[in-house]
Amino acid sequence: MEHQHTTSPRKMNVKAFIFLLSTSTLALARISPRDSALLPFSFAPLPLGSVKANGWLQAELEMEANGLAGHMHDFLPDITDGNWVGGSTSYSGLNEGIPYWFNGLVPLAYTVDDERLKEQVHQVAQYITTHQLGDGWIGPESDSNSRTFWARYPLILGLMNLVDANSTWEEPVVDTLGHFVDYMLNRLQNNYTDYWYHEGSELQPVDFTWGRVRYPDMIISLQWLYENHPAGKEQELLDTMNFLYNGSIDWNDWYVEGVYPAHNLSGVPIDANTSPIFPFEHGVNVGQGLKSFGVVRRLTHNASLIETAKNAVNWTFTYHGSASGTVLADEILEGLDPWSGSETCTAVETMYSLSYLYQALGDAYYADRAELLTYNAMFAQITADWWGHQYMAQPNQPFCEELSASPFWNVNAVGQTFGLQPNYPCCQVNHPQGLPKFVMASYATTSDGNGLVHALLGPTQVSTSLSSGNVQVSCNTAYPFGDTLSYGIQSDGDFDFYVRVPSWYDPSSSSISINSGPSTVLSPDSQSGLHKLSISAGQTTVTMKLGSAIWTETRPYDTIAVHRGTLVYALEINSTVSTTPPHQWNNLNAQVTFPVPDQCKDFFFANDTAWNFAIDPSTMTFHSSLDANGDLSTPYAPGASPLWIEVQACLIPWGMHLDSVPGIPSMGSSRSCLGSTQTVRLVPYGSAKTRIGDIPTISL
Ligand SMILES: *[C@@H]1O[C@H](CO)[C@@H](O)[C@H](O)[C@H]1NC(C)=O
Ligand SMILES: *[C@@H]1O[C@H](CO)[C@@H](O)[C@H](O)[C@H]1NC(C)=O
Ligand SMILES: *[C@@H]1O[C@H](CO)[C@@H](O)[C@H](O)[C@H]1NC(C)=O
Ligand SMILES: *[C@@H]1O[C@H](CO)[C@@H](O)[C@H](O)[C@H]1NC(C)=O
Ligand SMILES: *[C@@H]1O[C@H](CO)[C@@H](O)[C@H](O)[C@H]1NC(C)=O
Ligand SMILES: *[C@@H]1O[C@H](CO)[C@@H](O)[C@H](O)[C@H]1NC(C)=O
Ligand SMILES: *[C@@H]1O[C@H](CO)[C@@H](O)[C@H](O)[C@H]1NC(C)=O
Ligand SMILES: *[C@@H]1O[C@H](CO)[C@@H](O)[C@H](O)[C@H]1NC(C)=O
Repeated sequence: MEHQHTTSPRKMNVKAFIFLLSTSTLALARISPRDSALLPFSFAPLPLGSVKANGWLQAELEMEANGLAGHMHDFLPDITDGNWVGGSTSYSGLNEGIPYWFNGLVPLAYTVDDERLKEQVHQVAQYITTHQLGDGWIGPESDSNSRTFWARYPLILGLMNLVDANSTWEEPVVDTLGHFVDYMLNRLQNNYTDYWYHEGSELQPVDFTWGRVRYPDMIISLQWLYENHPAGKEQELLDTMNFLYNGSIDWNDWYVEGVYPAHNLSGVPIDANTSPIFPFEHGVNVGQGLKSFGVVRRLTHNASLIETAKNAVNWTFTYHGSASGTVLADEILEGLDPWSGSETCTAVETMYSLSYLYQALGDAYYADRAELLTYNAMFAQITADWWGHQYMAQPNQPFCEELSASPFWNVNAVGQTFGLQPNYPCCQVNHPQGLPKFVMASYATTSDGNGLVHALLGPTQVSTSLSSGNVQVSCNTAYPFGDTLSYGIQSDGDFDFYVRVPSWYDPSSSSISINSGPSTVLSPDSQSGLHKLSISAGQTTVTMKLGSAIWTETRPYDTIAVHRGTLVYALEINSTVSTTPPHQWNNLNAQVTFPVPDQCKDFFFANDTAWNFAIDPSTMTFHSSLDANGDLSTPYAPGASPLWIEVQACLIPWGMHLDSVPGIPSMGSSRSCLGSTQTVRLVPYGSAKTRIGDIPTISL
């Protein structure tokens, strides 16, 4: 199938060469069992279960566990009757529903230690590990002509985390995966069957692109097996990784100057079935693919991937990013227009990639972006009770209603409402992974074995062992709403504690102190962003204060986005919420036919006021009602944020896009006040479900 070959012949030769080179040098590298063929992480991830949340973040995880994420297993046919567990339901022929769900529920269950959710994931893990087919395949595709590797990637990421969190699962999972790797390598050696299109398959060529472009997620699990549970299959695991990469649709071919679309793509047509660049333009693929450079560098030791990773993330957000930290792709890359959409799947996948890149490459840029995305774009796409999520979110989204016309590439007219399954069901089953994986990645260890890193800031606690003994650290904070982080530390021995200082910190109003010692200035390392503290055995307290100022970012059409600290502030458009029973994802006019819990609804947000405001940024003043204890409750619920910015504003002429959503605001001399000046509030983006995020400016 010619059109499957998106790499040039010259490129393939280079890759084949690397393949041979890496496998031969890797064989030598196994002289000592402690030597790894894989490059180490800059900051090694900790096993699931080592990190828990505190305070407001723990409350959010508990709401997630008690919301849609923690209840799909009770009522959603894709899970209860899923074809992975002996049932007959699957929303698509790719059979990815249970794998996505499992990938999110395992970290959620073990981060909140919720016995009910653990029971759910154990039940599914039990079924899958006891129903492997004789040839090694895992999954419902008993007909070998209907197989493609893809849906196994999220499933296996879930199994990996389950083993890390609970050693009871080590034997059944490692055994199952061992047989599956035998199967995979055999198929890959046999003309990449199940990875590329193969003769006689019922699947279409496009069905194979997901597995080929999402390869990093499979290679991560193989690297984990290699390092933790090789079971004598070291060479086979390396061969499988190399085959997967060699036969991939390689992100290295996309983030190349002159190839990458460093421009507006809005309205540029693309045929998903035939365009060789479709896999690279698809937003969720981008979210998953950004980690490629960190994953592949561990395998091939190609030092140039460090720079390519930086370019990839930078270009993605410079040319196709929202100020809230996510990728504008509805479902393909769009540009910067404020009516463009972002999938919830894209948000959670990009969060995972960015936190992975920080672990793999140690560059603070990725950690800053992981926090930006989590604390803004991700929370904005979920209702405060965690029962509703959007399929698409827009920077300028003053209402979330059935639209007269969809402004998105191939998304329905209710894609930006909140609910059970506004559009395609992928975000329903995939949204759960975002927050628990962020919490998991918030601490890591240094390669010398005696350093602990607080990589992603927030109220969290960690318990682990370093070379000097056990250590427990608990961080109490209202961050990102509060600016003080208070650590309680208990350690058996002396160790190095590193705290990440976000790039936006204001040195003159930031400081750190140990026990009751004097406050000192922060001195973060320019590469990692880490401030180092030497901690002695016993009990220690650390207090860090991160001062910040309001700053603005230029957005298209003479608009700005407003930032302070990690939070983005949007102009809140007051709205009224109405609900209906949930609709079928593929029939907007019909309710779902299965019973749902009372809390499971579709949510529609109607704007109570006009939204066509411009603000005068010179009049912005910051306000906080955060109490001295920093107590927070549902800070992302509309109206509940303790922080806001007041600013002078007026209404301006502003037309619609497709007669359906806010379009291009008036500019130049036609931008003038339609009425009197009034004071409006900018609130944290995540709490502004209805908002103007890219805000026109005017001088008042
Ligand atoms: C290998 O697969 C490709 C498509 O992926 C196909 O074009 C080719 O004919 C196959 N070769 C053999 C020897 O089966
Ligand atoms: C790598 O893939 C190319 C096709 O993309 C193939 O021609 C080559 O044989 C593969 N090399 C190895 C070592 O598998
Ligand atoms: C680990 O998994 C086993 C088997 O499912 C279960 O019985 C046990 O309770 C789990 N342990 C923890 C700590 O959750
Ligand atoms: C991007 O292209 C679309 C379609 O041509 C156009 O409407 C829009 O104004 C462009 N956006 C920017 C920011 O230039
Ligand atoms: C290493 O990565 C660079 C940059 O991403 C790429 O251009 C180059 O082809 C890779 N080198 C090899 C030998 O594959
Ligand atoms: C991102 O790319 C732009 C344009 O190439 C460059 O000016 C900027 O310094 C880059 N930023 C980072 C963080 O690399
Ligand atoms: C939204 O409601 C709040 C509280 O009633 C009010 O202070 C604010 O001015 C309203 N916003 C707009 C844009 O009307
Ligand atoms: C809400 O926005 C719509 C679309 O711009 C507008 O027509 C309507 O007047 C607004 N509603 C209110 C109550 O202002």
